[in-house]
Amino acid sequence: MNRLHTGVTGLDDIIEGGYPKGRTMLILGPTGSGKTILGISFIQQACSEGRKSMIIATEELPEDILMQSESVGKPLEKFFKKGILLIDKVYEERTQYAKELQDIGIEGIDRLQTNILGLLERIPVEIECVVIDNLGVFILNMSPNEFRGQFDSLIVGLTKRNITAIIIMDLSADSRTENIASYSVYGVLRALIKDNPFTEARERLLEILKIRNTKISLDPIRFDITAKGIELMKK
Ligand SMILES: Nc1ncnc2c1ncn2[C@@H]1O[C@H](COP(=O)(O)OP(=O)(O)O)[C@@H](O)[C@H]1O
Ligand SMILES: [Mg+2]
Repeated sequence: MNRLHTGVTGLDDIIEGGYPKGRTMLILGPTGSGKTILGISFIQQACSEGRKSMIIATEELPEDILMQSESVGKPLEKFFKKGILLIDKVYEERTQYAKELQDIGIEGIDRLQTNILGLLERIPVEIECVVIDNLGVFILNMSPNEFRGQFDSLIVGLTKRNITAIIIMDLSADSRTENIASYSVYGVLRALIKDNPFTEARERLLEILKIRNTKISLDPIRFDITAKGIELMKK
């Protein structure tokens, strides 16, 4: 199976060379755990190999993503300017639409927020690598069944198009949705922030929960986020 580099030093070696090409990985974890930076690292690596890439950000402005990428040593601006990287404006559209609804006095949920499958149509044909950050927001207004149907169709659609994708989801409180999502994707990583009971320090952990076709270790990996990006620590 072909692999794409993760953009995180040392991670490729742990998962047989990288993320499975043409398949979808799910990254779970609470706010601040490092999910977006994992996504940025992958996209920066892909762009530097000349792969046309796209970030669909449901909660962040393009300029904030570019700024964050710079601060962790994975600068994306160059690729964005050259057109190798697209950043979808779904967040701005969402907020714009919410404002329109408010202006005409309708209380409602925006259509983007319940249309997971619609994301697929937003991806131009030439795109090879995609990060969707973050699907958590979509789940708020959907039943588990509705979510499952749409999520599965999205994964099938991405796979048929041979796109290597990372889907990010927070809302770790909702384990049911996490389970539903985890079934249909090819692999699942979880980023965590935990108290170390011995040192009482808080530490960042990365768990590799599953990757089909890949031998993985279930030991969580400690990591740090620095100006050079995600740095895995030796045990
Ligand atoms: N340049 C940096 N140096 C060190 N830590 C950083 C840097 N940039 C961001 N971080 C850390 O990364 C965290 C956010 O990571 P992020 O990937 O955005 O989390 P998530 O997407 O899971 O909410 C911040 O809370 C901060 O602790
Ligand atoms: Mg994030």
